[in-house]
Amino acid sequence: MCGIVGYIGPQDPVEVIVEGLRRLEYRGYDSAGVAVVGDNGEIAIRRAEGKLRDLEKVIATNPLSGSYGLGHTRWATHGRPSEENAHPHRDCSGRLVVIHNGIIENYLELKRELESKGHEFVTETDTEIVAHAIEDSYNNGAANLPDAFRSVLPELHGIYSLVALHTDDPNLLVAARQGPPLVVGIGDNETFVASDIPAILMHTKDMVFMEDGEVVVIRSEGPEFTDLEGRAIEKKTERIPWDPIMAEKGGYKHFMLKEIHEQPRAVRDTLLGRVSLESARVLMDDEMKLTDEQLAGVERACIVACGTSWHAGLVGKFLIEQLAGLPTEIDYASEFRYRKPLVDEKTLAIYISQSGETADTLAALREAKAKGAQTLCICNVQGSMMTREAHGTIYTHAGPEIGVASTKAFTSQLVAITLLALKLSQARGRMPEHDLLEFVKALYHIPAQMEHYLHDDKRLIELAKTFQQHRDFLFLGRGVNYPIALEGALKLKEISYIHAEGYPAGEMKHGPIALIDEEMPVVALIPHDSVYEKMLSNIEEVKARSGIVIAVTDAEDRDLEAKADAVIVVPSTHELLSPLLMVLPLQLLSYHVANLRGCDVDQPRNLAKSVTVE
Ligand code: AGP
Repeated sequence: MCGIVGYIGPQDPVEVIVEGLRRLEYRGYDSAGVAVVGDNGEIAIRRAEGKLRDLEKVIATNPLSGSYGLGHTRWATHGRPSEENAHPHRDCSGRLVVIHNGIIENYLELKRELESKGHEFVTETDTEIVAHAIEDSYNNGAANLPDAFRSVLPELHGIYSLVALHTDDPNLLVAARQGPPLVVGIGDNETFVASDIPAILMHTKDMVFMEDGEVVVIRSEGPEFTDLEGRAIEKKTERIPWDPIMAEKGGYKHFMLKEIHEQPRAVRDTLLGRVSLESARVLMDDEMKLTDEQLAGVERACIVACGTSWHAGLVGKFLIEQLAGLPTEIDYASEFRYRKPLVDEKTLAIYISQSGETADTLAALREAKAKGAQTLCICNVQGSMMTREAHGTIYTHAGPEIGVASTKAFTSQLVAITLLALKLSQARGRMPEHDLLEFVKALYHIPAQMEHYLHDDKRLIELAKTFQQHRDFLFLGRGVNYPIALEGALKLKEISYIHAEGYPAGEMKHGPIALIDEEMPVVALIPHDSVYEKMLSNIEEVKARSGIVIAVTDAEDRDLEAKADAVIVVPSTHELLSPLLMVLPLQLLSYHVANLRGCDVDQPRNLAKSVTVE
């Protein structure tokens, strides 16, 4: 998962590219580089190990200028993070540079072939072979860079988004997509190419989303799209509704904190116009592209996702089964396709993904689609691959989520899958009118309740100060809040690097209770719902073994105050909607612990925002 930016136009390419890379750093940040073509027709390159700021220091010390170029921020797959392994990579002549996101699985075989032809390699990366392969094609008579570039692509096995330039073919860039995303921005006498929308949104809102097997030749006057054989392809330009400010920090110390506080708006925007408060009818037929008849004919659902999106899916299982009475299974995307899943045209296969580009989830979608299932994706990024391949899409309207740890996209996913469950319930005539109206009213009230709760996180800052040095945490929940226990644990571990596990509370006595001692903080999710008494017993079991209990509940409760070491109260709502509110203190707790520990909250070590490799 790397960040790629290319630019050609009247602006300073170094500035445009570095600024674009800054907005893509969440995709990978272990090294970075930029290459531009100067007025002398020569390529100037600067690269640095470390963050983008390290590259900026190199550029400040040793400036470069040019009329067009490309840049890259890396998440290492082949070859350790280092300056020499940082992109862009050159060919032998030094007149060609290339940048790459993805994995070339047959790079060693290609490397040996090229070495036998005299090519000399200087890096450990798979990407470098692409530069030499294009050069080899040039040496064997390719007429120009686009032809040389297209002739190489079929030899590459694996996934790639690539951008290259050659000084023999001045004032143009070539790019191709096979897997990881690539979007082309169309400006006024300038053209951009990047891995994701935020990198170019401050320059243009007119974008073209590339698909697998497509190549683009980019000139300042605009792009020309072709297939691998060079045949012209018509592409649609889409207007992106986001504004650049949405991608900025807005005065918060970290994107993650900003995005936690954006949740009321994100939830409201995801709800807007999709369900009637009067009739409780869900109004999403067109975007879902699945009629009530098709939904009524479905015999089972399967939900497939990764990470936090998988946790949203697990909540979705509860909602779909309880509201619509439809048997629903859930699977990790990385497991789904290898277990020979039993899906067919009577299966509704639901894919949840913030980025819409997660390789495992995309592969799982293709698997189910090939088996005839109706595929529906819940996604936050317009034009992403999953939204193009699924039969229907329910977009979350969270806006760009930059923090690697997902927050506003997660609660927006919960709203989207709630709407889907309601839609299924109506298509299957499962829920009596009265209950439906109550439920929808409670759903509409959530954004205001979130806003009210998020006003004041002093309590969470105190708790973070108290518990920041602990080495292990346990998160416990039951029923529809068991997935929230998993999510709370993931949030804490992925940004503070503290070991944390989420468990269904009933499972404690089958092993995890052996971990409980006076050093173990246990976060217990205990709203006043159908399993409250059971959760109270679990809290007592923990206290009987000197464990520390942080209880999260939805009303003042003397009993709980007497038993727990700390009690956090969130607003109360319908049992099936409580995850939307119970998750908020867990997001804030993980943020403040990580911040106090001096962790890189927006760009945690070893992670990337979108895992576009398997
Ligand atoms: C969530 O905080 C993590 N960053 C990660 O688990 C993420 O949810 C997962 O990689 C799935 O990403 P997606 O939603 O873009 O498919």
